[in-house]
Amino acid sequence: MEIILSDPVPPLFDELSNGRFEIRPLTTSTNSDCEAAVAILVYGHPPVDGALMDACPNLKVISNHGVGVDHIDVAAATARGIPVGNTPGCLDAATADMTMALILSVARNVVVGDHFARSPEFDHYQPALLIGQEVTGSTLGIVGMGRIGAEVAKRANAFDMRVLYHNRNRRPEIEELLGAEFVSMDQLLRESDFVSLNCPLTPETTGLIGAKELLAMKSTGILINMARGPVVQTGALCDALTAGQIAAAGLDVTDPEPLPRDHPLLQLKNVIITPHLGSASNVTRMRMMQMTIDNLAAGVEGRELPNRVC
Ligand code: GLV
Repeated sequence: MEIILSDPVPPLFDELSNGRFEIRPLTTSTNSDCEAAVAILVYGHPPVDGALMDACPNLKVISNHGVGVDHIDVAAATARGIPVGNTPGCLDAATADMTMALILSVARNVVVGDHFARSPEFDHYQPALLIGQEVTGSTLGIVGMGRIGAEVAKRANAFDMRVLYHNRNRRPEIEELLGAEFVSMDQLLRESDFVSLNCPLTPETTGLIGAKELLAMKSTGILINMARGPVVQTGALCDALTAGQIAAAGLDVTDPEPLPRDHPLLQLKNVIITPHLGSASNVTRMRMMQMTIDNLAAGVEGRELPNRVC
C-alpha cells in the first residue's frame, strides 16, 4: 500500500479509493511517517509548508480536499517541483446555496426566531415580531465573481435582486447572462443591501473589509462572508455591528477560526455564524473526495493531475 500523510478522513475515502492508501498522521507525523510518505492529502486546513515538504523526500503530490489552497505554501511546492491538486467546480452550487441560506437566515431572523419559537415567551402569533428585511427585489453586491460568485448571481436572479459585482477582471459574459453590473468596490459597498464575499484569500483580499469599508455600507446593510475569515478584519466588524454601523452579518468563516469561546462576536445577536459549512452537502462532499483521490492517484503514478493548482 502507498503511504500518505493526512489528518483523519471519513470512511468515504477508503470506499472511493478501494483501500489503496495507508494513512499516517499529518499534523503529528514522525520522521519515519514523512520518509515513507509519497503524498500528502490535505483534509481540513492543516498548514502545509516548505519544511514539511522537505521532511518528505519521496513526496510526489499534495492533494487538497477543497478549492482554496491558502493554507498550503504553493510557491514552496512549485519550487520543489511538487504538484498541488484541488477540487474546483464541484462545490460551487453548494457554496452558493449556503450563501443564500445565510442571506435569508440573517435577513429573516431564522436563528433568533427559532430560539424564540422554542421559548415559553412564544404564546401567540404577533405580526409585529421579528420583522426582517425583504430579500426579494433588494440589491446584492458580490465581491469575487468567480465560479461561486456566478452561482450566487444565478440564485439572486430568482429572487429578483439587482446584482452588483466587483472582481479583479470584468466578466462580460456574466453581465450578459445574469445581468450583473460591474462596479467599483466603493459603489458596491454603498448601494448593496447585502454584501457577499465569495473571493479567494490572496494578499489583495486579506483584510479587504475593514472599518472604512464597513462605514461605507448602508446602516441597514448585511455582510455575508463565505470566503475566508481573514478577508474581514474581525475587530472592525465587531465594532461596526456593536455600533449599528451595519445591521447584521452572516459568517461561514471567521478569523481566527474558530473564534475563542469568549470572543465578543459570539455574544452579538445580529450575527449568525456557521462552522465553515460552505461545501458541506452530501453530494458535494462525495464529489470533492473523488476529485481529491483522482489527483492523489495521478500524482502518485506520475501522471498529470486532473485538477492542478501549480
Ligand atoms: C473550503 O473551504 C474550500 O476551499 O473548498
